[in-house]
Amino acid sequence: MSFGNHIIQLNDTREMPLLGLGAYKTLDDTELKQGILEAFSCGYHLIDTASFYKNEEGIGRAIKALSIPRSELFITTKLWNTAQRIGNIEDSFYRSLERLGLDYLDLYLIHWPVPGCFCNTWQVFEKLQSSGVIKSIGVSNFSIHDLELLKEASDITPAVNQIEMHPLFQNPELISYCQTNGIAIQAYAPLARGAYANSPLMIEIGKQHQKTPAQIGLRWLVQQNISVIPKSGQKNHIEENSKIFDFSLTEEEMSAISAMNTGQRITGVPEDMVPYL
Ligand SMILES: NC(=O)c1ccc[n+]([C@@H]2O[C@H](COP(=O)([O-])OP(=O)(O)OC[C@H]3O[C@@H](n4cnc5c(N)ncnc54)[C@H](OP(=O)(O)O)[C@@H]3O)[C@@H](O)[C@H]2O)c1
Repeated sequence: MSFGNHIIQLNDTREMPLLGLGAYKTLDDTELKQGILEAFSCGYHLIDTASFYKNEEGIGRAIKALSIPRSELFITTKLWNTAQRIGNIEDSFYRSLERLGLDYLDLYLIHWPVPGCFCNTWQVFEKLQSSGVIKSIGVSNFSIHDLELLKEASDITPAVNQIEMHPLFQNPELISYCQTNGIAIQAYAPLARGAYANSPLMIEIGKQHQKTPAQIGLRWLVQQNISVIPKSGQKNHIEENSKIFDFSLTEEEMSAISAMNTGQRITGVPEDMVPYL
């Protein structure tokens, strides 16, 4: 295992990189290969995908073509809601693994907390982890209530909760709950899909550090020990997003950014989950 210095210690003794490449909506093979190549040359080790993104095969082809040593890769994928409802969790996992061309996965996440299903799903995740085909197991989009239900059903605490988080949507109670209970936070949509790129405050703080608003937003997250998985298909953005470990925000700057919270999600919620959230 060799993920460099910028890592989070997980509750299962493994390490997870603080920075990863998000792959939602990156479908084209050439873009995937170039993006992953650029990311690895800039020090990324983690790639975040999901069966729902329909690019596991392309990512598998890219990592094979690039011959990156397996020990330097941290690959995350996620189980989609339909598989939870149907109950074919193990099959879905092995199909993902095959599409990725891997013989083990670093992190497998329950993509959404499908009510009435996720505790059973978790039992299958535990079984897969104990057989060695998954190193770490976690969840995504889980609320405090969902995590409490899981706690009643199992002794194994999720290693990670991957949730929407950025300066405009901060979810402080959930962050505090996860950090108190040893669950690492991974922020998705950490750039709020561009929604704070023109914020005067972010521009001003950026000027103080010769950084862009995107780098300031990512730094604000990693400085709280929160992992980030910005998505980009562009070489210059992939590189820019990696340059967040060579400066620090002051306490005043951290607080000023924390005051930007609107409590509004930027990303959508899948139709089949809307009634529950
Ligand atoms: N668990 C979940 O339910 C869930 C939900 C949503 C997302 N995710 C994961 O989180 C990842 C990131 O979230 P996201 O893709 O929704 O949003 P995001 O990372 O906040 O934003 C991506 C957008 O920002 C642009 N961008 C990237 N770097 C930039 C930079 N330095 N300056 C200006 N623009 C920049 C990208 O365009 P270019 O490509 O042109 O650079 C893209 O349009 C996803 O790819 C996925 O892996 C998980």
